Amino acid sequence: MPRNKLKKFAEIETYPNVVYYPDSLAGNWSRTFFRNDNPVTLELGCGAGLLTLELARRHRNRNYIGIDNKRARIWQGATQALTDKLHNACFITTRIELLSAYFGVNEIDEIWIAFPDPYPKPSKSNKRLISPEMLSIYRTFISPGCIFHVKTDDDALFDFSLESIERENAVIHQLSGNIHEEAGIPEDVRIRTVYEERHLKEGKTIKYVRFTIN
Ligand SMILES: C[S@@+](CC[C@H](N)C(=O)[O-])C[C@H]1O[C@@H](n2cnc3c(N)ncnc32)[C@H](O)[C@@H]1O
Repeated sequence: MPRNKLKKFAEIETYPNVVYYPDSLAGNWSRTFFRNDNPVTLELGCGAGLLTLELARRHRNRNYIGIDNKRARIWQGATQALTDKLHNACFITTRIELLSAYFGVNEIDEIWIAFPDPYPKPSKSNKRLISPEMLSIYRTFISPGCIFHVKTDDDALFDFSLESIERENAVIHQLSGNIHEEAGIPEDVRIRTVYEERHLKEGKTIKYVRFTIN
């Protein structure tokens, strides 16, 4: 492994805003970790965490947790959060499949999934972060009316997402085929992530759906 990566891995082990195996926090994130009573938003597959950081800057009355299994990417977001003294943001390096152990019933009322890996092979569809299998994991800790936001450049993944949530009897609150051109798109939805910048440079359009599942 490159020395620079090893250094980052050693560094984030000491960060107060990166949490490992947080089973003991399940159900008590706000009170025990953030030391407030504010609602909690998750960003799944946060990568470098730009969305988590910007949402935390804009909404000081909420707590934000970015989750990704790539530690070098989490290092970027966590380092920036410390520099900016964003006390309402933290990160977990874990596989999203394990989240049922880390959050309590009804604990989460908002989830962002920005540019999830498309896993184009049908045999891998259960790994897509918006698959029915993954939604059944989220169901163990979301509150009734939990808002989901999904953004992607990928047409096939967008279609798959809509099919997947239709099976869950989702209520769609907003649907867009091009968030950077259409009117009426909330400012938070227009926050650009690392992958989003890349896709926009390639001339791709960004699709978005906001929904709730019952
Ligand atoms: C295409 S990147 C998008 C990153 C970021 N959301 C953005 O828009 O810049 C997808 C991210 O999801 C993470 N990811 C995919 N499946 C995951 C899983 N099962 N558990 C944890 N992280 C996952 C990857 O490590 C990667 O950083």
